[in-house]
Amino acid sequence: MSLQGKRVILCVTGGIAAYKAAFLVRALTASGADVRVVMTPSAERFIGSQTLATLSGHPVARALFGDGGDVPHVELARTADLVVVAPATANALAKMALGISDDLFSATVLTAHCPIVVAPAMHTEMWEHPATRANVETLLARGVRLVGPASGPLSSGDTGPGRMSEPDEIADVAAAVAGAANDLAAKQVLVTAGGTQEPIDPVRFIGNRSSGLMGIEIAAEAARRGAKVTLVAGPTNVAIPRGIDVVKVRTAEEMRSAVFERAAAADVIVKAAAVADWRSDSHAGEKLKKAAGPPEIKLVATPDILAELGATPGARKPGSVLVGFAAETEPRPEKLVELAEEKRVTKGADAIVANDVSSDDSGFEVATNRAVIVSGGGAEDVGLVTKKALAAAVVDKIVSLLDA
Ligand SMILES: Cc1cc2nc3c(=O)[nH]c(=O)nc-3n(C[C@H](O)[C@H](O)[C@H](O)COP(=O)(O)O)c2cc1C
Repeated sequence: MSLQGKRVILCVTGGIAAYKAAFLVRALTASGADVRVVMTPSAERFIGSQTLATLSGHPVARALFGDGGDVPHVELARTADLVVVAPATANALAKMALGISDDLFSATVLTAHCPIVVAPAMHTEMWEHPATRANVETLLARGVRLVGPASGPLSSGDTGPGRMSEPDEIADVAAAVAGAANDLAAKQVLVTAGGTQEPIDPVRFIGNRSSGLMGIEIAAEAARRGAKVTLVAGPTNVAIPRGIDVVKVRTAEEMRSAVFERAAAADVIVKAAAVADWRSDSHAGEKLKKAAGPPEIKLVATPDILAELGATPGARKPGSVLVGFAAETEPRPEKLVELAEEKRVTKGADAIVANDVSSDDSGFEVATNRAVIVSGGGAEDVGLVTKKALAAAVVDKIVSLLDA
């Protein structure tokens, strides 16, 4: 992958590793990028702006305020395909996490809509401090891509985690992130998310613990990568990013109709919703009275939307990719793979993402998931990761299935 034709804003902040920014400008330009360097006042204590201006072929941007009528941070952010912050000081990470924008660097990253790659560099104590840990978590949860830091000798003479990754590695990640930014361009992606609610009476329902986060992260990732995304969502409290068409549904039957109306136009269908397997065979028009005693509820099966999509000829666009989810109480990855492969074949899906819901850190109502992705080509054990990171892995798999 290369950065040919991409404009990269390289933000250099004030750590000792700023001297490596010169090599990074070299690596980014060698990959084809048009590099514009932004420096903080502290960064200029470590490397001269003239060096970076000469290597990038453009003046270094340093000041938020100038004499002209232009607004430099908006101009820089709007024209960027990618922002790279390297080295990123502990201070830079904190400002990014909090949205502080009191200099050109921080105002530019806060304005940018493009992907952001961050290469932290600092002493081990700073890196391991709970404040930095929390800031990094915040940035990762927002989709910022972290490179390093590596472990090794530090400028202080100590050894440990905190070294900035090598410029070539940062440039490779930058190219991969910029390349991925458009790999679903012109594709229609249909995603389902959340649990369904099957009514018993006007106020009671049979539901499940799905928050909707996993499906919404997949919809957001697909949209970030250029797709036109429609999200069919059961009731959820999770914020849905702008730019995604949302169809709100409540029951499995409503979800089925919403999906089948749109399935034939979709290049990709991801069924991340936790659709109820059963519903009450009847539901009362008026609230059931407690005084009447516990009602007897007879359960009947709801439609299996994934299996129907997999088995109905003509329901889907030829060549489209169908991905299902399977929630299993199975912590052993090899067993999880077996269950997922069985489900993939019986449902007629191209891939199944099987997640283990047996522990508190995976599955329902949490930000992390432990999952395997099974496709005809094999199984990928993603391990325990944030749902955002799992969404990125699922979309990577979808892109490779579309290419195949
Ligand atoms: C010699 C020296 C080396 C430093 N190296 C680092 C470093 O590697 N990482 C870091 O986070 N801060 C480092 N600092 C502290 C930062 O320069 C300081 O936090 C500064 O406010 C960062 O500003 P900036 O983030 O706006 O560039 C260093 C300071 C000095 C004096």
